[in-house]
Amino acid sequence: DDSSSGSDSSSGGGGKKITLGFAQVGSESGWRTANTKSVKEAAKDAGYTLKFSDAQQKQENQISAIRSYIAQKVNVIAFSPVVVTGWDAVLKEAKTAKIPVILTDRSIETSDDSLYVSFIGSDFIDEGRRAAKMLEKVLEKAGHKGAVKIAQLEGTTGAAPAIERAKGFKEIMDAEHKDDWKVVVSQTGDFTRAGGKQVMAAFLQSNPDINVLYAHNDDMALGAIQSIEAAGKKPGKDILIVSVDGVKDGFVAMSEGKINGIVECNPLLGPQLMELVKKVNDGETVERRIKTKEGDFLQEQAKEALPTRKY
Ligand code: AHR
Repeated sequence: DDSSSGSDSSSGGGGKKITLGFAQVGSESGWRTANTKSVKEAAKDAGYTLKFSDAQQKQENQISAIRSYIAQKVNVIAFSPVVVTGWDAVLKEAKTAKIPVILTDRSIETSDDSLYVSFIGSDFIDEGRRAAKMLEKVLEKAGHKGAVKIAQLEGTTGAAPAIERAKGFKEIMDAEHKDDWKVVVSQTGDFTRAGGKQVMAAFLQSNPDINVLYAHNDDMALGAIQSIEAAGKKPGKDILIVSVDGVKDGFVAMSEGKINGIVECNPLLGPQLMELVKKVNDGETVERRIKTKEGDFLQEQAKEALPTRKY
């Protein structure tokens, strides 16, 4: 589903209007919906022509979208890679066509760093570490004693946030909780509510003694909550829940006591991306890595923060 927009907005500065091709992952989560909205609004505000595509979480769709942007000779290409590997060929085509590429939100693995000019987004390894540190606090607050049996709902297999959120969490777990914490089940729920619901139901069947859920995003936690309740257990009490993102529905669940802690991941990358696009288009040297800043939230902050949440 390809679409163009912004052709009716003014050029904003009298200069030649910038055309940006943006290849989005999909619309798998509340986070992604907010991210798409931010990119579209910011492109409009900047007066760029935006060519936008939704890859429905399939790498081959994203590759064809990028190819079509190259064929259309856009000025800059930005994309949020579904998975980390397999981009070199298409990015070489962009380089040959002299179209600069910006990675947004997610990183790639490549042996050729010249294939993209900048990467703007969160530090997912740190988010994983923060989730583990948050779990320490949650367990303490709940007065939890004894073994911590963790179920992990992973994001899309092969995606940077899934790999890195697992890695950062494990790092803290191995270093500080080797004897008392154990991930007893871990599987992908593809960052979707339906995935979280389905996988959590299976987890509860195979491991009814799980007492913690670490979900790589709020949507999967929200889906899992449905299965926990269906199994006659109380989310946030019988099973303590920590997730990542900070979307509104996540905050609502947290203010109801069903999620215990959320590590924020900011999807509102649009305005910063548009500034970067301008600089890159003007041939300026830009920072290779731009990290977004985020917060951590526990239940006591949820109600207060809810009205001010922007996504
Ligand atoms: O890449 C960011 C992740 O992708 C978000 O945390 C998740 O909700 C989304 O689908």
